[in-house]
Amino acid sequence: MAEVVIVRDADEAGEIAADMIEALVRRNPDVVLGLATGSTPLTTWASLAGRGLDFSRARGFVLDEYVGLEPGHPESYRSVIDRELVIPLGFSPELVHVPGENGTIETAGEDYENAIERAGGVDMQLLGIGRTGHIGFNEPGSSLASRTRVKALAEQTRRDNARFFDSLDDVPTHCITQGLGTIQRARHLLLLAFGEAKARAVAGAVEGAVTASLPASVIQLHEKVTVIVDEGAASGLLHANYYRYARDNRFDWQKG
Ligand code: GLP
Repeated sequence: MAEVVIVRDADEAGEIAADMIEALVRRNPDVVLGLATGSTPLTTWASLAGRGLDFSRARGFVLDEYVGLEPGHPESYRSVIDRELVIPLGFSPELVHVPGENGTIETAGEDYENAIERAGGVDMQLLGIGRTGHIGFNEPGSSLASRTRVKALAEQTRRDNARFFDSLDDVPTHCITQGLGTIQRARHLLLLAFGEAKARAVAGAVEGAVTASLPASVIQLHEKVTVIVDEGAASGLLHANYYRYARDNRFDWQKG
């Protein structure tokens, strides 16, 4: 079962997520992190920034990228991850990878899978969740075993992401995303979600049927998952009281 941690707000979630990442990078400076963009991880990056950690040897694999934006576009996930994570935290840019960056788009999915494998796999994969229940850009209907590939974006996702662009028409129609099978191979999944708008997706992901109709529900098949949500995002959970009880009553050896 996923460990579900219900917190006050996004700042507290960011502290806990940053504690987990700090522990990993202190244990292994060459850690392989699965990185997410979007607004959700921002408090995690902010919390990490004040800790004096050395990320220069850490490897990173970003979940997804738009297809069709010109290189250097400020809203490409390459630009976003450089601006929000690589530069402020001192990652080495050449060790942080974004799907579709090199080579031809036709082989980009396979190339990315191979690169992840060569790095020894992802130690911890950070995940946000879309209102459609997507993780990465795996929209409803995605195969639970899928690998990195080009996909069309759902209309809802394009509308949700239009806030980053001048208009809805400027939002790309396609993306390249790690598949649900790719994500499942990470050794630890860390999913964060904030606000009531995410409540339905979170409840489906954690407690609903495992189904391609709610792609994030695939996390239920993973042996090591941590879900950190604020009260709003937790508001659809049937077993919230149990999660709180379980968290408050961990043995010492289960902590940290
Ligand atoms: C975006 C990204 C996802 C992200 C999700 C939630 O479209 N492709 O990787 O996790 O949707 O975004 P946000 O964190 O801004 O709510």
